[in-house]
Parts: sequence; C-alpha cells; structure tokens
Amino acid sequence: MVTHLLRLSDLSKTDFEIFFDRAMELKRRQKQGTTHRSLTGKTLGLVFDKPSTRTRASFEAAMVQLGGTPLFISAKDTQMSRAEPIKDTARVLSRYLDGLAIRTFSQDVLDEFARFATIPIINALTDLYHPCQVLSDLLTVIQLKRGYANLKIAWVGDGNNMAHSWINAAAVLGLNLALACPQGYLPQESILDDASQKSRAEIRLTTDPVDAVKDADVVNTDVWASMGQENDLEARKHVFEPYQVNTDLLGHAAKDVIVMHCLPAHRGEEITEEVLEGPHSVVWDQSENKLHMHKAILEVLLAR
Ligand code: CP
Ligand code: NVA
Repeated sequence: MVTHLLRLSDLSKTDFEIFFDRAMELKRRQKQGTTHRSLTGKTLGLVFDKPSTRTRASFEAAMVQLGGTPLFISAKDTQMSRAEPIKDTARVLSRYLDGLAIRTFSQDVLDEFARFATIPIINALTDLYHPCQVLSDLLTVIQLKRGYANLKIAWVGDGNNMAHSWINAAAVLGLNLALACPQGYLPQESILDDASQKSRAEIRLTTDPVDAVKDADVVNTDVWASMGQENDLEARKHVFEPYQVNTDLLGHAAKDVIVMHCLPAHRGEEITEEVLEGPHSVVWDQSENKLHMHKAILEVLLAR
C-alpha cells in the first residue's frame, strides 16, 4: 500500500481493491448505525488553496465519524502565502498532525509536501489530478453496476484533472475508457502514454462525443472551465458546445446508462438540467460515496 495518495497511477490493483472493500464495509456499518472509532486521537489537517464544498465537508465528517479531529487550514491564511517554503511547512505540520489532505493548483506543490512530510499526504485535487473523487466514483460504479469489468465508460468534455485520474485508474484496473475531448483540450499526452505503456486497458481518445458515448454504460462529464480557468470560460463555451451531455447525446448510450458528474455542475453548459435531474443521473450517490471513500482512505493511510 502507498504511503501517500498523490495520483492513482501510484496505486496497484490491490490498493484500489482495499479502498473499495473498506469503503463498502464502512458504508454498511454507517447504514446500520454502528459507530467505528478507528482514528481516535488522530488529527487530519486540510490545507485548501481553492474552494470546496464536498471534498472538505466529507473529509471533515469522515474524520469526526472515525473519532478523529479535522483541522481546516485556509492556505491563504498561512505563511505559505508569504512565501514560506513548502518543505518547511511540510516538516512543521508533520510535527502537529497525523495526515494532510491538500487542495492546490500545482501537482508539484503536492509532490514537494510528500517529499518532506513525515505523515501521509492526500491529494484533495490539483490542476492535474483528482484521485479521491475517481476512487469515490468507481465505488459508485461498482455498487450500481455490480463491478467495473466489461463496462464501457465514457468521458465527455475537458481533458482535465478528472479525466487524467480516470486515465490513471483505467490503466491500473484495465477499464474500457473512451474519452471525447475537443482539440486543444485533450488530456496530457504523457499521462496517456504512461497509461498505454503500463497496461492493456482499452483507453481510446476521440474528438467525437457520439463515438465515445455509443453503447456506454457510464457517461462522465465535468465543468468546461475548472477552478483557476474561470477567465477562459467564454472562449471555452463555444468550443465545448458539442460536448454537452444532453438527452440527444445519451440516446447513443446503453439503455441503463448512468450519468456521473463530480459536481459542482453548470446546468445548461456541460450538462442539461433534464439529464442532471433525470433518471440516469447518479450524482447524489457519487457525492455520498465521497464520505465513505474518504473514511476508507483515512483509515488505511492514517491508522498505520
Ligand atoms: N467534487 C468535488 O471535489 O467537489 P468540491 O469542489 O465541492 O469539493
Ligand atoms: N475539474 C474541476 C473539478 C471540481 C471538483 C475543477 O478542477 O475545478
């Protein structure tokens, strides 16, 4: 098992399975009303440099439910905003805390934390990856589709942090993943190359959303402009218009397709109100599963 959770390409298939099994068990226990205090006396720091509703709240609730304490640290209120080096911050926070969930811009910052920290570092989203989200989303797929083998999974939209984490997961788990992204907004070539070198997973990239969605069991999308790209939204709207997940596009998918979106969603942009609120949408289950998956991640990484 990995020490830190920085990117899904660091995980083995067994690591994924440990997270899935543990999350399912912790979800079952919570539904039964059984308390489970495996992290009593532990403190998780949450250093966030970008906004968050779900990831912050679910990590904080996860920590409380496991008997530990969450400590939210707004990055802009720390000395990092006055250029204190990451390597110093990482070593200091390691003396107070038992783990750190970090949401920031550059993956390099996260990697630098991991290099100098003596506690587990968890990626709560960077510009490059969103691993905890894709672990939670795979848990949703497993529970609703009874596994992930033989499923056709489509990604429609920006080749962004979420797409990159899906590619990483596909390579390790051998998923059948088709991504439809516009030219100029494709996933990073190095991430695709790394995935294809490492595995025989079927990872296909196209610019045609109909092609990617054809017979898909799972259709995933995300915002057209991620956090930090807001100024680019107007230009992107034009390019991404054919990539909207709407009823017409879903008509090409399998009849019992599930539609996923990590949220927050922009209705009328990447997804229509009709689809988001419609019978194929599983977005609320996805959000709930962040809690159960984050509990599993914290237990596996912090209880050691
Ligand atoms: N999906 C997700 O990460 O949501 P937040 O930005 O609200 O944490
Ligand atoms: N791609 C989005 C995900 C938000 C959870 C972003 O980075 O803003």
